[in-house]
Amino acid sequence: MSQLVTGSSSAAPIIGRVAVVGLGLIGGSFAKGLRESGLCREVVGSDPDPHTQQLAVSLGVVDSMVPDLPSAVQGAELILLAVPVLAMRSVLRELARLELGGAVITDTGSTKTAVVEAVREAYGQVPPQFVPGHPIAGSERSGVEAADAGLFRRHKVILTPLDNTDPAAVERVRQAWQALGADVEDMPLEDHDEVLAATSHLPHLLAFSLVDTLASRSENLEIFRYAAGGFRDFTRIAASDPVMWRDVFLANRDAVLRSLDTFTRDLSRLRTAVEEGDANTLLGVFTRARVAREHFSTILARRAYMEPMQTQSINFIASPGSRVQGRIRVPGDKSISHRSIMLGSIAEGVTEVEGFLEGEDSLATLQAFRDMGVVIEGPHRGRVTINGVGLHGLQAPPGPIYVGNSGTSMRLLAGLLAGQNFTTELTGDASLGKRPMGRVADPLRAMGATIDTAEGGRPPLVIKGAESHLKGMEYVMPMASAQVKSCLLLAGLYAEGKTSVTEPAPTRDHTERMLKGFGYPVQVDGATATVESGHKLTGCRIDVPADISSAAFFMVAASIAEGSDLTLEHVGINPTRIGVINILRAMGADITLSNEREVGGEPVADIRVRYAPLKGIEIPEDQVPLAIDEFPALFIAAACAEGRTVLRGAEELRVKESDRIQVMADGLQTLGIRAEPTPDGVIIDGGVIGGGTIDSHMDHRIAMSFAIASLRATADIRITDCIHVATSFPGFIDLASSVGIQIRQEDNA
Ligand code: S3P
Repeated sequence: MSQLVTGSSSAAPIIGRVAVVGLGLIGGSFAKGLRESGLCREVVGSDPDPHTQQLAVSLGVVDSMVPDLPSAVQGAELILLAVPVLAMRSVLRELARLELGGAVITDTGSTKTAVVEAVREAYGQVPPQFVPGHPIAGSERSGVEAADAGLFRRHKVILTPLDNTDPAAVERVRQAWQALGADVEDMPLEDHDEVLAATSHLPHLLAFSLVDTLASRSENLEIFRYAAGGFRDFTRIAASDPVMWRDVFLANRDAVLRSLDTFTRDLSRLRTAVEEGDANTLLGVFTRARVAREHFSTILARRAYMEPMQTQSINFIASPGSRVQGRIRVPGDKSISHRSIMLGSIAEGVTEVEGFLEGEDSLATLQAFRDMGVVIEGPHRGRVTINGVGLHGLQAPPGPIYVGNSGTSMRLLAGLLAGQNFTTELTGDASLGKRPMGRVADPLRAMGATIDTAEGGRPPLVIKGAESHLKGMEYVMPMASAQVKSCLLLAGLYAEGKTSVTEPAPTRDHTERMLKGFGYPVQVDGATATVESGHKLTGCRIDVPADISSAAFFMVAASIAEGSDLTLEHVGINPTRIGVINILRAMGADITLSNEREVGGEPVADIRVRYAPLKGIEIPEDQVPLAIDEFPALFIAAACAEGRTVLRGAEELRVKESDRIQVMADGLQTLGIRAEPTPDGVIIDGGVIGGGTIDSHMDHRIAMSFAIASLRATADIRITDCIHVATSFPGFIDLASSVGIQIRQEDNA
């Protein structure tokens, strides 16, 4: 007997009689599962097929078979109609003539509009106790012999109640499906039929059609001897029940036709590509499909059909450690990775990227450009090949562009998209939804862009490229932000005349450097960078150095753990990014650079860090923009230093992935460190770090900072909500463990 997810098997049944009309695979499995669950007192079956009538009781599917429908449903509290969609009409007509008291009626039809129409026809209106339902489960096997009590376990069942459906009836049906271990969800009727037409009906149609096409050209079916796994996997569903599927296509005609038309159009495009030897289009479709399929496989593997990925939660447990030793290379620079995809896409010719960061943020940028028609191969071990489409070759994406947690993607893309001749919507996750976008939307509007934002200048952004006529301008930024600067320079590539941006303090200059690397002229004059439209970018090679922001965690780790000696290889040491080195050195850290060289316009070096006792300092304000992402790690260094560390002029930290001043101060206090937040900084007194639970506020850098704090902690540090570590540092736990930092993922998080 199958193990069912129910707590009711030993309790008294809470439903009396259940009648199941139609005992094929679905009806039979429901009946059998419900009997075994103990939720109801009795399951009665009704089916016109004599063979089924004979087997249903002996197979334990029902308690009894009652041949005629009126007697079967008499006295039932719950009636399940599991007959083919087209047979539903006559069954409903018969039911409508009967006096059924308050019996709740539900069905399993896969096309809800057709079922509801049939109900309306039979009853005159849809009765409040009728709950349309559809279990998303099946098997190639059919008939009562295939009935399986566990068929619906961890499968979706979609209910599509109408406005007048009785909520108590919906609850009853939900309860029955849940007793079989199903995940029950509600959905509007039309949405259900559209989704199913695309994800179930169309694939079945194609599978039936392909097998028929091949089989009818090889009468003795000889060719199938040569068919391998690909054929088997693709056509497995062609073994499904023909009568049922005939009915599905007749019943869900309109939605299926819409899906089929879209598919036919795309297929004929592929045909043309094959005919014309258009390798680029083929590769574009295949790479996009592969990524989508990989994403889908993850969802399928978790059996969480249509469930958003974000619901997953990961907690870290970091244990006290000793020293940190070894030679490692941390993943590629996030800022440079983003820009390599953006500029490579709007360049002419091919751009080869090495060392690309395969983190969620930069992958979001990569996907955005795939959505806009750019053919991008990889990433494969950090290698990406971008087939640039030129400044004016991007195409309107098929829907909103989702950039997840990535502020850099959203802000830089905003500038680039303002220059296109189509409209794009940029959306992101809940955390990004709270971050300010007015800082890019306002100056872009001043350049002539039409941009809508949500209240308070928050995402989503709707960028109406075709309505925008960009004119260059001279902009003096109110804050030191490389994202704002880069956004405006990218818009400047499409604006009439010159666009110049002046920054109040030096910020990372990867955009300026990389534009030059692509052969696009950029004039840098002190604090002002200027571009002029009318030039082009030419594809090139980009070697992405290791990210100094990721290296920072290890620089702090080695500095605070006695006896440490760690070398970080091939780290980007762009002068606009080395605030963390300057600040740590000022605190007394022992950091030496070697093997300094320049790769693709960016300076890199190997960084050796040996333990040295740290002392508190007043952090020079000019270092703030140069270490903007490294403060969470630097606060840990301050907590381990002797004396007081004071940070001022860093209000920008309050609008990062979290309010990094408040969240770090709260976390440090939890661990017993005196940390006093101020409006634009923090005052930290070094001390002894204890154990405790820290809320990372879904901020990757907060999570990693407290993970390295464990090296000096007196007990375990538990850090919650660490899922976003993968946005910038995939493989963080493994790499940290390889040098002696003990972090593990909490079980069952
Ligand atoms: C970035 C700039 C910085 C930084 C962010 C990446 C970039 O943001 O914090 O992680 O790639 O341009 P601001 O421009 O908001 O300072």
